[in-house]
Amino acid sequence: MGWTVVRNQLDEESLLVNESLFALGNGYLGVRGNFEEGYAPGINSIRGTYINAFHDEVPIEQAEKLHAFPEVSEKLVNIIDAQTIMICFDDEWFSLFDGDILDYKREINMDEGYSERRIRWRSPQGKTVRLHFRRLVSFRTKELFLQWIDIYPESACRNIRVISYLDGDVTNAADPDDPRVASGHTKRTNTTDVFQDGPNHTVVNRTFETRLETAASVRIRTSRTPDVYSCEYHGEAVVEDMTFREEEHIRVSKWTVYTDTYRHGPDVKSEARTIHNELADVSIADVLTGQREYLHGFWQSADIQVEGDANLQTGIRFNLFQLLQSVGKEPASNISAKGLSGEGYEGHYFWDTEIYMFPVFLMTEPSIAKNLLEHRYSLLPAAKYRAKEVGHEQGALFPWRTIKGRECSGFFPAGTAQYHISADIAYSFVQYYFATNDMAFMSEYGAEILVETARLWIDTGHEKDGQFRIDDVTGPDEYTCIINNNFYTNAMARFNLRWAVKSLALVQDYSQEAFDRLVMRLGIEPEEIFAFQRAADRMYLPYDPERDIHAQDDTFLDKDRWNLAATPKEKFPLLLHYHPLTLYRYQVCKQADTVLAHFLLDDLADETTMRKTYEYYEAVTTHDSSLSYCVFSIMAARLGDQEKALRYFSETARLDLDNTHGNTKDGLHMANMGGTWSALVYGFAGMRMSESGLSFRPSLPKSWTSLTFHIRYHGRIIQLYIDHDAAEYTLVHGEPITVTHRAAPIKLADGTAVRAVL
Ligand code: BGC
Repeated sequence: MGWTVVRNQLDEESLLVNESLFALGNGYLGVRGNFEEGYAPGINSIRGTYINAFHDEVPIEQAEKLHAFPEVSEKLVNIIDAQTIMICFDDEWFSLFDGDILDYKREINMDEGYSERRIRWRSPQGKTVRLHFRRLVSFRTKELFLQWIDIYPESACRNIRVISYLDGDVTNAADPDDPRVASGHTKRTNTTDVFQDGPNHTVVNRTFETRLETAASVRIRTSRTPDVYSCEYHGEAVVEDMTFREEEHIRVSKWTVYTDTYRHGPDVKSEARTIHNELADVSIADVLTGQREYLHGFWQSADIQVEGDANLQTGIRFNLFQLLQSVGKEPASNISAKGLSGEGYEGHYFWDTEIYMFPVFLMTEPSIAKNLLEHRYSLLPAAKYRAKEVGHEQGALFPWRTIKGRECSGFFPAGTAQYHISADIAYSFVQYYFATNDMAFMSEYGAEILVETARLWIDTGHEKDGQFRIDDVTGPDEYTCIINNNFYTNAMARFNLRWAVKSLALVQDYSQEAFDRLVMRLGIEPEEIFAFQRAADRMYLPYDPERDIHAQDDTFLDKDRWNLAATPKEKFPLLLHYHPLTLYRYQVCKQADTVLAHFLLDDLADETTMRKTYEYYEAVTTHDSSLSYCVFSIMAARLGDQEKALRYFSETARLDLDNTHGNTKDGLHMANMGGTWSALVYGFAGMRMSESGLSFRPSLPKSWTSLTFHIRYHGRIIQLYIDHDAAEYTLVHGEPITVTHRAAPIKLADGTAVRAVL
């Protein structure tokens, strides 16, 4: 139960949404859920195939270009389309928009790793056929996109014709009226080669500016040799045309292998051939077994079971599955805001990774989390360059949105000004250390990131009246920009500065030699460490004593409140209907900001301040960003209101499945999907992690019977089962360990469940 998502609608809007929901991927390759046979004329579709980080450069047109405004953006490119397969019964082409649909079922199998469409169709002239389309993107052979179709004519049929296309003439999608989607630059690749290579047909495309190449190479297999076969090259497309005579069942499978310059070096063609040769003796059943085994491993550590709500259970699994499908698993890539499911935000990586998605992998599959950190580390030189460009003398300023490291945001108030991303990245390196105790990684990568980001804060901030202040930045809430002393930013910068100091001490403890090398390489002087500590100790955190809440920044609380109750429904999200300056002048939040700080840094406020802060910002937050609900859920649970936490959690778990933000067609909201996991583990299970260990404060909403999940921590696997009376902790793997349950230590050893009352 809860392992499939079923969607049978065929209206235009649902079809577009389903293209994202049915996207398949493996972190390297992503294919949207488009129909093989196409659509009726006039029906809108975003047909897309993407390779993570495979991008072109496009100009950012700045009408008034000021110093260090980015001029070039990196854009994920839609690559060669292999999805198309058309089927003709005598002279009637199969289409779901023609004839009668007698039966239709479309589903994704999240434990088996494939999607399918089962169709019983009557043609306009009355022939009945059954069709079973299946497809997958392989987790074991990352380059492989496999489709297979079983065709069963139920009426007499002389000829069944199957035509497969491989098309290099592709474009990206655009919407000039939505800032969350690209506004132009749709054609970004040209086909440079189309050729036959033994049984394979290959198309090679090259991007205009980055000159990156990708090859898509198709090999068709059929259950029997077609009676007629031809292959023609139509410009940039390969068209394979097969006719079968009087057959009861035909299976046609299409094996498409994608390679690209980043991962496979300059000879993308011969790499594709090699992969095809390796697959020559592999059957569909073998690939399916590989999918099942891979996913079995994933679900064993990542599955979360909620007893008591089947709809939420599906949402939870779907969100986890999509995260796995989208996350880069090698250092060339990260996880973009829409994963590999669509073109919203143009394939860019944001802070979404570190604060929303990274924790899921950190606690379930740390090797993937480590890759995400390594990828960020690889962008450090670009971040140091960017800091200089913006005017800093030192430090690393990570870009707000990027693929290869350059700042790709054209709107600096809600882009570059979000300096907090540098602290968020630093924070995730510390979280990795908490969860793994991996000192080798800390001395090789973590400490350097912490020092370079700490340097940014020293260079950005200044001391006034004994307080360290950070002016003119933007916090997470994008409806309030360029303000002084954003609480979230200052609190995260303080953590960053403290941990820069601590990390150096830890490295020195771990290895004097590693420490000496680091100090030499980064040119660290004792005075600098002192300056980090001093800035941290004097960090100003805005607080309003009258209301007993943390202020979002120096002026937020002085503004008039936006009248949310009087704002018509159709005016949301506000960003699409009001000039940014109008929004900036009011107390109105797009997303959690101060409340997020209270979640990430548990020791910033006492319970009363936390509660009052929560209530205050809840009243002025629109949740126009999908990154908001999960944080409000986590903090509602923290403050003991599990029913409210459940309401926010339901929005989170079902956001894409129910298209509640109205833009799932442009891709899935990956950060929110990560937030689903966080709301369960940090929210209802109340997990927190620090230097001193792992602690839990579990508490469930009334309608749930139980919550079960696993986490990996310090090389152990710990299972938690929570019901309304107790939490049961089991050490599934690893050495004995002590965790904290509601302030009481609990010793876990050798697979015995330890029950602790709530
Ligand atoms: C949010 C940002 C987020 C971005 C990408 C925006 O709408 O406000 O916080 O990073 O989307 O998901």
